[in-house]
Amino acid sequence: MGTSEAVLQVLSGAVPRLFCGDPYFSASDSRCAFKFPLKCSRRRASSYLQFLKYSSMQQYGVRGIGSSFPGSTKVDHSWLHSCKCQKAESVSGVTTEDGNGAWFVDNAKKLNPIDSMVNAPNVLEFQDLQQLKEEKEVFTSSGANGALRDTFHGLNIDSIEDEAWELLRESMVYYCGSPIGTIAAKDPTSSNVLNYDHVFIRDFIPSGIAFLLKGEYDIVRNFILHTLQLQSWEKTMDCHSPGQGLMPASFKVRTVPLDGDDSATEEVLDPDFGEAAIGRVAPVDSGLWWIILLRAYGKCSEDLSVQERVDVQTGIKMILRLCLADGFDMFPTLLVTDGPCMIDRRMGIHGHPLEIQALFYSALLCAREMLAPEDGSADLLRALNNRLVALSFHIREYYWIDLRKLNEIYRYKTEEYSYDAVNKFNIYPDQIPPWLVEWMPNKGGYLIGNLQPAHMDFRFFSLGNLWSVVSSVATVDQSHAILDLIEAKWADLVADMPFKICYPALEGQEWQIITGSDPKNTPWSYHNAGSWPTLLWQLTVACIKMNRPEIAARAVEIAEKRISRDKWPEYYDTKRARFIGKQSRLFQTWSIAGYLVAKLLLADPSKAKILVTEEDSELVNAFSCMISANPRRKRGLKNSKQTYIV
Ligand code: GLC
Repeated sequence: MGTSEAVLQVLSGAVPRLFCGDPYFSASDSRCAFKFPLKCSRRRASSYLQFLKYSSMQQYGVRGIGSSFPGSTKVDHSWLHSCKCQKAESVSGVTTEDGNGAWFVDNAKKLNPIDSMVNAPNVLEFQDLQQLKEEKEVFTSSGANGALRDTFHGLNIDSIEDEAWELLRESMVYYCGSPIGTIAAKDPTSSNVLNYDHVFIRDFIPSGIAFLLKGEYDIVRNFILHTLQLQSWEKTMDCHSPGQGLMPASFKVRTVPLDGDDSATEEVLDPDFGEAAIGRVAPVDSGLWWIILLRAYGKCSEDLSVQERVDVQTGIKMILRLCLADGFDMFPTLLVTDGPCMIDRRMGIHGHPLEIQALFYSALLCAREMLAPEDGSADLLRALNNRLVALSFHIREYYWIDLRKLNEIYRYKTEEYSYDAVNKFNIYPDQIPPWLVEWMPNKGGYLIGNLQPAHMDFRFFSLGNLWSVVSSVATVDQSHAILDLIEAKWADLVADMPFKICYPALEGQEWQIITGSDPKNTPWSYHNAGSWPTLLWQLTVACIKMNRPEIAARAVEIAEKRISRDKWPEYYDTKRARFIGKQSRLFQTWSIAGYLVAKLLLADPSKAKILVTEEDSELVNAFSCMISANPRRKRGLKNSKQTYIV
């Protein structure tokens, strides 16, 4: 059965979305019956600030996620995503109006020592905290050892790592008393919050991994299960809905008055699927990262019960069906609009950007590992396997570039009409940018940013290349060559702060046309070749996988020179990353978490296996079967053998 047939079968109902007649939906574990009967008791706070001050300290009697609402068969979003908060007295006997919230602190500590430690700083207003931080900095820079801050927090903070942990914990977001994610940035110096007070799916990944590596599994489990609920949210923009299975880019926990009761509030999860995001871009990467995190959670905690849940299995399938659905494409790569991933503004990456393809491949492999074998999934699995094989062939063959391949493109014939065309995409050699002729090292290579008919985006995109190594969509030799290139181009890619998001910057007319003259993405800033410390963690996983951790260790050392002193910026500007980014947030959580994950993994490289996927022999076999069964592809392979390193 062909891929399209297989997918059609799946689409036609083998795995219905939230369909309550599905025998695999048990009454207690079905998403269509998924309710949150948990009640967070709270009288409406007299001011928002007061709420901020206390909410994250509250320890409620929370029933586990997945508690069912017997007999219900209809998805009711108001139930799904809200946590009703009744009058405080009814549960805890304490309200936010009780003055200094001392009860919460004391009792929270008794209930959960970890959480109470986490929550402790929230007793103070954030500004006070910031002031103390600054005082500490003055202290430390003038030769003192930061004792003031240590005394204040009662924690041992004499290293960057300790500081990072403290900041990461401060960034935790609570929903009905349970940790559910981390805020994107907690920058007290920025007046314009935009959506940096949201929990972003992609930003949470390094936070989640850091918590997993530390043995703190609850926040990751909660995050996985709550974001799963948001997947079913009805999303529209101007009366149009994107495909089912889309995960939001971010969500925010909001406290709203409870309908019909002035004295009580409820917490609701408010997702953004791109319908409010700047540019209205749907986040294609969110669902892929969600699958990757789910597998990492299972591997690290050894708690497979989450991935085995029926609602989670359905969630995986919904993402897969969305990604594997047939369209007009000739390519096995995912076709997306501009800005569907970490680069979430117009940067000329629409089409088949490498980052999405690497995450797609990784998510397919992770999903394959987790999908429960059952009759209903057979076709989906077949479609998935077909896609894995086609995708790895396509990326390895057509995205790979090194000096030899560049020379080959330089000598390409064009306008070839035949099955055997060498220049299949009709690339005109004049497209080779002058910078690349100089830049390409003798040793090393990389995967280009994007491939379309008559268009190769020759920019080096870091996340796509690093995750191609991690996911094994790049061959072993290609993976080593990517690391060779990073070493050879250290001054460009790492320079004063790891790691350039892409190289080089779009400048002049190209910048005007491609970014739409975006003032945030000016050359060597932000997405346009700015440097993002968060990428340290992906670099570390890739280096560990290839048994070359010393490369990542060098990069971490460079970051350590400035990152804490600079207050954990979101990104750096200029060619050599010398300035803190023009509009960069400070205390950006994924900069903090990315650093922590890098440190934790370098300390125990064996842990990287929770993120790595290896090419398996089944796939290699399927690949050769596919090639020998299809004479047209056979011809393709004959040529390809000479063009990529296996
Ligand atoms: C910016 C980044 C995006 C990130 C978000 C929150 O929009 O481009 O990748 O998820 O900020 O940090």
